[in-house]
Amino acid sequence: MPAPLQTAVLPTHTPALLQAAVEETARALRSGRLAVIPTETVYGLAAHAFDADAVSRIFALKGRPTHNPLIVHIASIDLARRCAADWPDTADRLARAFWPGPLTLVLPRKPVVPDIVTAGGPTVALRWPAHPFAQALIRHAGFPIAAPSANLSARTSPTTVDHVRRTLDGLVPLIVDGGPCQVGLESTVLDLTARPPRILRPGMVHAEALRSVLDTVSESAPETGGIHRSPGLLDRHYAPLAPLIVRTWLDDHDLNQQLQSVAMPPDFPTDSPRPPVTCILAHTRIPAARNFLRVAVIPHDPEAYARALYAELHRCDELGAQLIVVESLPNTPDWAALTDRLRRASIRTP
Ligand code: TXA
Ligand code: MG
Repeated sequence: MPAPLQTAVLPTHTPALLQAAVEETARALRSGRLAVIPTETVYGLAAHAFDADAVSRIFALKGRPTHNPLIVHIASIDLARRCAADWPDTADRLARAFWPGPLTLVLPRKPVVPDIVTAGGPTVALRWPAHPFAQALIRHAGFPIAAPSANLSARTSPTTVDHVRRTLDGLVPLIVDGGPCQVGLESTVLDLTARPPRILRPGMVHAEALRSVLDTVSESAPETGGIHRSPGLLDRHYAPLAPLIVRTWLDDHDLNQQLQSVAMPPDFPTDSPRPPVTCILAHTRIPAARNFLRVAVIPHDPEAYARALYAELHRCDELGAQLIVVESLPNTPDWAALTDRLRRASIRTP
């Protein structure tokens, strides 16, 4: 465990504060330190992407396996082309349609990108974030920024500074407060080196939206060929502390019946109450609150749901929920990324 640091939290809510935070963060990254920065998707744990030592400290701090590559954030096509060995016409068209925004493009890498960033692989993942602070920072710094989500490996990504501080206070020198994340879910990762281009991680830029620019997009199962192309896709991920299950129910009675017989993990104490202390995340059939620790009502709209989901999961952790029950989501392309995250958050064994 590294020795505790004094963590500075930099506000950005006036133009002068934003500018000061940009300058201080750029200075920190340039000198090899780490900083937590806001993006429109989730907060990121940032380092100078060309500084292999700094990037290796990201892996150590998160407890992230080094076979899981990082996204490199850029804020111009020029900077993207400094990292990518090939810039196909499809990249240009996608960038025009979706950048800045929650889309990450996987392209052949240039040697200037250190191995630690790409997990030694031949490709680099590039994203131009839309958050004003992130854009201003990259422009001011002039170098690309490697940043995974600012959570411990496999846990729920942070969408507010409070979430970040709960795990990283005293472990990073700098946290920039850019307010709650507007998208709230990690970016879509699209592999442009595959034929046809393939979604490695679904996000709010969904397959149908991509098909407005590309002729074909593959959404094939991540395990295809047994190759871990995007490790974030495979394991238990995005997970709150309590077991999470996804259910459909007709009414309160039906839900309570289902919860009487829910299978808890083997380490769940047998003398605990049945059903366990439960948080419900509902969007359409809202159960009465009296039987539960919390009933969160999330809007039945994919954008609003994405903005709220991780904050609700963090809240369940904070309240000490023993079980999280999430109302199942519609089976349409605009909900696909959310369904994916809930599925991964519900995996119990690594
Ligand atoms: O929205 C986001 O993407 C956020 C913000 C901070 O930008 N970042 C993020 O990073 O979610 P992270 O490290 O938590 O997830 C990155 C995902 C992982 O699933 C990783 O395996 C995949 O992108 N990835 C990174 N580089 C890759 C590459 N060269 N090829 C395939 N997948 C890659
Ligand atoms: Mg992550």
